[in-house]
Amino acid sequence: MSTKFERTLVTSALPYANGHIHLGHLAGAYLPADIYVRYKRLRGKKVLYICGSDEYGVPITLTALKEGISPQDVIDRYHAANAESFARFGMSFDVYGRTSWPLHVDTTQAFFQALGQGGHIDQQEMELWHSEASDRFLPDRYVKGTCPKCGYADANGDECENCGAQYAAHELIDPRANIPGDSSTPALRKSAHWFLRLQDFTDRLRAWLDGHPEWRANVKGIAGGWVSELHARCITRDTDWGVPIPIDDPIAQGKRIYVWFDAPIGYVTNTRQWGIDKGLGDDAWQPWWKDNATRLIHFIGKDNVPFHAVIFPAMLMGQDGYILPDQVVGNEYLNVVNRETGVAEKGSKSKGNMISVRWFLERFSQDAARYYLAAIMPESRDAAFDWDEFRNRYNGELCDVVGNFVHRSLTMTVKNFDGKVPEPGALDADDQALLDSLPVQLDGVAEALEEFRFRLSLERFIEIGRKANQYFDAKAPWTTRKTDLVRTATTLYVCCQVVRTLCTAMAPFLPAGAEKLAGILNIALPNNGPDGGDDIWTAAKALLSAGAPLNTPEVLFPKLDPDYIAALAEEHRAGKAH
Ligand code: MF3
Ligand code: ZN
Repeated sequence: MSTKFERTLVTSALPYANGHIHLGHLAGAYLPADIYVRYKRLRGKKVLYICGSDEYGVPITLTALKEGISPQDVIDRYHAANAESFARFGMSFDVYGRTSWPLHVDTTQAFFQALGQGGHIDQQEMELWHSEASDRFLPDRYVKGTCPKCGYADANGDECENCGAQYAAHELIDPRANIPGDSSTPALRKSAHWFLRLQDFTDRLRAWLDGHPEWRANVKGIAGGWVSELHARCITRDTDWGVPIPIDDPIAQGKRIYVWFDAPIGYVTNTRQWGIDKGLGDDAWQPWWKDNATRLIHFIGKDNVPFHAVIFPAMLMGQDGYILPDQVVGNEYLNVVNRETGVAEKGSKSKGNMISVRWFLERFSQDAARYYLAAIMPESRDAAFDWDEFRNRYNGELCDVVGNFVHRSLTMTVKNFDGKVPEPGALDADDQALLDSLPVQLDGVAEALEEFRFRLSLERFIEIGRKANQYFDAKAPWTTRKTDLVRTATTLYVCCQVVRTLCTAMAPFLPAGAEKLAGILNIALPNNGPDGGDDIWTAAKALLSAGAPLNTPEVLFPKLDPDYIAALAEEHRAGKAH
């Protein structure tokens, strides 16, 4: 399957620049993608990784109104903050763009126009809530009311947070304006809008989805459900915050393109801008989006599945020559274990139980955060952040199994063998078996990554450390050191080879730890760029030579003190982890 591809274009969902990203975001759409692209780069593959801020939409203008600042202020603040959080977490985007970039107007309008020329956009009159008091229409969250499906009293104009229902604005019961200073009762008024005829793409979408039996069941299920009942969807709003509608008609003036239409097009814009900024020319983006030899992979949380597995693909089908996603990796949710009840609950702003990335990374290392989130990644079912589990898994697996093996192997080697990889004597059956297993184990880590099974891959990485510890304990080099120096040299020679394998295997997951370790081992772990390069992963299967110099070992993964964790868990419980 993957042999027909020459390059891989990876995207992670563009987070709204309307709040700080939290750990749930990382576990869903970002960490798995970063692990994947880091692995592909190590393999020397051509891979480009796109992300950026999603900067339009009603939530942003509402935040601005509430805080008495401009929407531009809101997006500038959160774009910068989130870019910094991602950098601290070790995200290796090739570009972290913005949908407010001027180029995005051009890309979005071109998409709109191509769909219009294909006859896929209709204009229709809608009945929408209008506030007399504010003299404006009330799109989406500008109006609240009672959910027509479940009776929830605080439902939004377009969807209900409580039951997940989506409905037409006029179905909302007991509407009230939801603007600072205006909670008046709105009236229905007619407004003209533009609709994307998704039903035109039903057959093509179905054929394309049928061609991907390998996708995760959750993604196939949600997409299949949508495709069976496609209808025209409104892609414009009564707002002035968004991409202007490219239609020469006064009624289009006070309206903008809906954020969910322009946001995924941001992937294209950001690719274009990347090419320009790198000095590769205005057309550098084209092969990434228009060559069938490119494999497009979207990493998202499950709430984004309809947009990436149905709507955006339909939008791409309505363009000239764009490829379609070959894989949509949709993760389930990361919930949070409630310290009082021990029960996992959804992260929510009102409960104050969300853990922001900046808060967490001011208190814990990037490696600890990445390790734990990869270990509990919500791949096929929801997972939950739990402080005890965080401590147990980081301390008990990464520190005690891998970190400990690496540390005792390297300190003993450096101390007893003059800071060099020792010259081995004759290999016995154990030595040989362990050495032979290393490339096989590394392949096991790689195979799981190729299948987007990140948890399994991480377990296989830890398993390398487990087997190595058993070997170390059985060979007891701290004892043989006094009796048989050749035996000790052989043991530690083998251990150095395991350490090198661990260094390679951890690189996609724990780039900071891997870099430190590579420094100690004096090996290069270069970061290939989008053009690819050497297959460093495979080259790392070669053995370190006897006599190769090592640098002074340091503790790669410092253990976390249980009292420290308990204190921070308490802060979190008090709603201060944001
Ligand atoms: N901002 C959206 C969210 O956080 C995701 C947008 S993904 C994109 O749910 F593809 F539309 F960009
Ligand atoms: Zn409801």
